[in-house]
Amino acid sequence: MANPFCKTEYLMPSNSRFHNEKMLATKHTISWEAGSIPRSSLFDDTFYSRQHGQSETAYVFIDGNRLPDRWSSPEHFTIGELGFGTGLNFLETWRHWIDARSPSQQLLFTSFECYPISADDMARALAAWDTLKPLSQILISRWQEQPSLPMHWQIDQQTVLQVDPGKAEQAVAQWSDMADAWYLDGFSPAKNPDMWSPALMQQVFDHTAETGSFATYTAAAWVRRNLQAAGFAVSRRKGFAGKREMMFGQR
Ligand SMILES: C[S@@+](CC[C@H](N)C(=O)[O-])C[C@H]1O[C@@H](n2cnc3c(N)ncnc32)[C@H](O)[C@@H]1O
Repeated sequence: MANPFCKTEYLMPSNSRFHNEKMLATKHTISWEAGSIPRSSLFDDTFYSRQHGQSETAYVFIDGNRLPDRWSSPEHFTIGELGFGTGLNFLETWRHWIDARSPSQQLLFTSFECYPISADDMARALAAWDTLKPLSQILISRWQEQPSLPMHWQIDQQTVLQVDPGKAEQAVAQWSDMADAWYLDGFSPAKNPDMWSPALMQQVFDHTAETGSFATYTAAAWVRRNLQAAGFAVSRRKGFAGKREMMFGQR
């Protein structure tokens, strides 16, 4: 995944502290906390909770969107995600989906990712999750082949994984599908405000099905206002692992 999908001028506005570090734009450089928790050098943030990333996915995104309850009706289902990262959210979702789905039901999981990580970094991060190993090996071997994005991959008979390149701000606007559930997972709003902007939250709302939902680990007040202004009914509940609150909501 050596190819930079995001233009440097988008990546580094002149007021950014990355302005003089153009080389960063060509590679998503990762450092490691406690040996196994990936931290982005571009955004100065970890990819998921330091406590337990896999449980965070289950609590915030899967439970926050009331999956797999909603899969009990036999319709096809579409998930949109802002930020593919290590693929952890996808893999944990796929694991739940395999257990819950009924025959002939289809899942489309579309993730918008502008700065893909390398296969080696993905493998190192995903090695932490034993219950995901059989699934993560499938994803990692495909990532090692350096697929060109956009990737549209029938990963099993009832699941399609799509990874869409480019800045989410533009890519979601061009997306031709509607999500039944959104995972808003774009690094901390303070460190990556672009992933929570009014324009992007509006695109997310406009690409949400009638009865669709979203969930996110953040409860930042300005993100809540952006989601509400876009049209979402926003609720809050206790956050994961000591975080005071997280948000979820409905179209
Ligand atoms: C917190 S991480 C996502 C973690 C991921 N869901 C996982 O399961 O590992 C945020 C991701 O958003 C991506 N990203 C940041 N800004 C973006 C943008 N403007 N457009 C698209 N992707 C972006 C980063 O490259 C990073 O992979």
